[in-house]
Amino acid sequence: MKTIAILGVGYVGLPLAVKLAKHFKVIAFDISEKRIEELKNHFDSNKETTKEEFEDIKCNIQYTTDEKQINKGDVVIISVPTPVKEDKTPDLKYLESASAIAGKNIKKGAIVVYESTTYPGCTEEFCLEILKKNTGLKYKEDFFIGYSPERINPGDKEHNINAITKIVSGDTKQTLQSIKEVYSKITKVHSASSIKIAEAAKVIENIQRDINIALFNELAMLFDKMNLDTKEIFDAADTKWNFIRYSPGFVGGHCIPVDPYYLAQRAKEVDYDPKLILAGRQTNEQLPLFVAEKIKSLLKKQDKSTDNARILILGATYKENVPDLRDSKVEILIQSLKKTRIKHICLWEPLIERKIIFNIENKEPKEKYDVIVCAVSHKEFENIDIFRILEEKGILIDLKRKKEHLKEELENKGHIWWGL
Ligand SMILES: NC(=O)c1ccc[n+]([C@@H]2O[C@H](COP(=O)([O-])OP(=O)(O)OC[C@H]3O[C@@H](n4cnc5c(N)ncnc54)[C@H](O)[C@@H]3O)[C@@H](O)[C@H]2O)c1
Repeated sequence: MKTIAILGVGYVGLPLAVKLAKHFKVIAFDISEKRIEELKNHFDSNKETTKEEFEDIKCNIQYTTDEKQINKGDVVIISVPTPVKEDKTPDLKYLESASAIAGKNIKKGAIVVYESTTYPGCTEEFCLEILKKNTGLKYKEDFFIGYSPERINPGDKEHNINAITKIVSGDTKQTLQSIKEVYSKITKVHSASSIKIAEAAKVIENIQRDINIALFNELAMLFDKMNLDTKEIFDAADTKWNFIRYSPGFVGGHCIPVDPYYLAQRAKEVDYDPKLILAGRQTNEQLPLFVAEKIKSLLKKQDKSTDNARILILGATYKENVPDLRDSKVEILIQSLKKTRIKHICLWEPLIERKIIFNIENKEPKEKYDVIVCAVSHKEFENIDIFRILEEKGILIDLKRKKEHLKEELENKGHIWWGL
């Protein structure tokens, strides 16, 4: 029976460990003591893995911060973060440190498989070099590499690892075969002919999503300026057989707003200007500012001063039903509101057990507000009584239009409803 070592057991690494542990012995290694401690206690703060799933496989997973344990791995999977730096260029520091740790500890014959999202060429040109520098083993004789991108969607119970085809690639036919054997125990696999093809496939999946949403965000901003109802236009266009519909909204998190910059950087290195990819990014980044300006103009319409207006924001995470604040556009919305002189901002994020989020107290609303922003559509907000907490001549900003059924009643009572 093979042993799989996984480096980085976060949103990607832990669900993978849990699935693989039904077929292999798994070493779950992370540099975060806090993370390993909670996993040892069968608790996942990301709320992706249930207690039952932990109990089901507990004999087959060893949670550890001891890098020497990686030496037991026949296959070593690396699933560490791949963020961007301040200047939006790829920040490879986690891949660098994980590759160094793997290099120092892999055993003879090991295959190192990268799962982190990156640009085509990163695994062979960057990560492999670090492995080589840190190991005494000879590449393609004593150790091998592969790439198999992750496609999970946090909070989405339907598209879990078992349900999605996994792209696999390797540096030799034999490596590919071995990687296929491992992953096909848990799901369907698609073999790519090279590591670069697999890297490129993953990054363009997220770029496509970013650009599609950007188009709908642009249309929403444009039609709002033209006083046309975006949703009605989309409903009408959607009656054509080949119209593909997306919903406008904030694009946050550590994948979609980040991954386009990885390919864009590579494009620049090969002297290609990725105009469309970067335009999509720019449009999506603009949306929080647009919403802040809209709030300001609606306050004026209701004869309310921006200085005194009290605003409640419902939800702070980057998307619904996921306790993850990374690159949440709610933070940018708050900054943009402050720039427009709106300073009385309250926040209620029930999925995060923290008193302060984005420098604002996180608490359940008890008072009344001039503006309520339904920013993130958590299940917890489904039954919230908007009328109880909305001031006279209030404004409901319903980004995802989940409260549109209240529009008529709100308007009859002198309030304003606005959605993307
Ligand atoms: N979360 C997603 O929805 C998702 C989906 C598909 C792909 N991805 C990609 O998967 C990769 C991992 O993302 P994630 O969301 O799981 O990140 P995460 O932050 O949830 O988890 C990463 C883990 O790696 C650990 N870590 C950092 N450096 C390490 C090192 N040197 N050795 C061992 N552990 C280390 C961290 O402590 C953390 O626990 C990224 O490239 C991301 O783009 C993420």
